[in-house]
This record gives sequence, structure tokens and C-alpha cells, in this order.
Amino acid sequence: ALVSAKEMLEKAHAGHYAVGQFNINNLEWTKMILLAAQETNSPVILGVSEGAGKYMTGYKTVADMVKAMIDEMGITVPVALHLDHGSYEGAKKCIEAGFSSVMFDGSHYPFEENVEKSKEIIALAHSQGISVECEVGAIGGEEDGVIGGGEVADPEECAKIAALGVDMLAAGIGNIHGKYPENWKGLNFDVLAEIQAKTNGKPLVLHGGSGIPTDMIKKAISLGVSKINVNTECQLVFADATRKYIEAGKDLEGKGFDPRKLLAPGCNAIKELVIDKIKEFGSDNQA
Ligand code: G3H
Ligand code: ZN
Repeated sequence: ALVSAKEMLEKAHAGHYAVGQFNINNLEWTKMILLAAQETNSPVILGVSEGAGKYMTGYKTVADMVKAMIDEMGITVPVALHLDHGSYEGAKKCIEAGFSSVMFDGSHYPFEENVEKSKEIIALAHSQGISVECEVGAIGGEEDGVIGGGEVADPEECAKIAALGVDMLAAGIGNIHGKYPENWKGLNFDVLAEIQAKTNGKPLVLHGGSGIPTDMIKKAISLGVSKINVNTECQLVFADATRKYIEAGKDLEGKGFDPRKLLAPGCNAIKELVIDKIKEFGSDNQA
């Protein structure tokens, strides 16, 4: 069964490690991430963007597929199914469809409106035992058509959203979705420390987890980051392994065009990457 992300993140915060959120696009992605989590005995969060939800034909399909896979694969580690960068309407739909966690990203609204809408989603989700992530100060870059300005979050605003009883808080601290540019200045640890101090130890979320150097990941965790979102890196390793398979002509040998064979190298690459990330974040053997 699915679980809320609240308990796993509080445990991670207290234990000074982070739980990975890995975004899913289809059955193969989901299967590989679940296998990686089970093999490393780690809690895991499956992220679903609104675009990915649409691609998979709807949130109900996603929720029912994931629940059935957990059951039929014999997955025993804690798994949360989480809406990523959700709109107000999207968050409500996912609560109804059977997700165990939602992000309401109101960072593009004027701050007072973000507060009002966050408050409403938190009340609705909590009445059903579903955890909520909210965002302050947009994450830079573009993800699935959601474009963030990349402003660094105001710690006072973070304190106000944390006080609403949100379970985890995403704050822009110089992190960017997608690949990091050559001239990236790195994470702003002074702001991160101030946010953690002003939010009374609220589990913090680091978006744009792809391509952040390990020393920065470790430092962010030491300053209160308990959830790290990774999406682009899974896409890159999948595409790379698939391209190599096709360029080597393996799809032309024997039954190499069988989708189960054609997709296998990419899928295995995702599983290996997720195992590496779980170990880097320190959530292995914490299930
Ligand atoms: O919300 C999802 C993440 O922030 C993913 O970012 O694609 O840069 O890993 P990424
Ligand atoms: Zn994100």
C-alpha cells in the first residue's frame, strides 16, 4: 500500500539523510524505481508531474497502476505517490484519485494567494492522511512546461508557509531544473540555513537534484534537506543506453526489436542510477 511522505521525511530529517523523489513516466520507470528501492531497503517517493499524469492517461490510472505494482511485485519498503509541481486543481484531482502525497506549487502566485491556496490544499489533504509539499521562491529552469524564475526564497515567507502545517517545504536556493549551466553559482547555503532556522526543523525539499555535486548534496542534507527530486538524470541515462543499443544494431539481431529487449538497457540504467542516488542520499537500509 502507499504511505504518506510525512513519516518517512520526519525520520529522514532526524536521521540526517534524504529520501529520493524519482519522477515516473510509465510502467517501466515505475518498476525500475520500485526494484531499486526494494533492493536497497529504502523508502522512496514516486513523483508524477501534471504532464506525466496526462501522458499516462490520468491520475486514476497512475494511482491504480502503482498500487497494483506494489502489491504484485511484493514491495515492502515505504512508497509514497506524489504529485510534482501541482496546480491547485491538479492537487485536488490527485487527492481524489488516490495519491498519498501532493505538491501544491503556488510559487508563481502573489505570496498572499500562495498562502491562501496552500492552506486550503493542506486542510483537504490532511483530512485524508495525505502529505503536502508547498513551494516558496521558484526553482529555476523548465520542467514539463512549468517554468520557474529561479528567485531565491525569502526565509520569512518560508516561515509563514511552514506555520500552515505543511509537511515539507520546497524553497528556491539557486537550484535549477534540468542540466546545470557551466557558470552555475552553486546552492546558496546561507539562505538554506536561514530557512531551516526559521521553519523549526521542517523537512526541506531540494528540487533540480540532477547534476548537483555530492559535496553540495551532503551539505544540503546537513542543513535540513530531507527530500531530493531527481528527474532529468533518469531521462538522460535511459536515452543514452537506448541509443547505444540501437546504434550497435542490436535491435536488428534476432528478436532484438522485441520491446522488452529494446527497452531493457535503458530500464537497467535507470535502476542502477536510482540505486546510486539512494546510497548517495543515505536512505538505504532506512525502510
Ligand atoms: O520536481 C522535480 C525535480 O525538481 C527534478 O529536477 O529534472 O533537474 O532532476 P531535475
Ligand atoms: Zn521540481
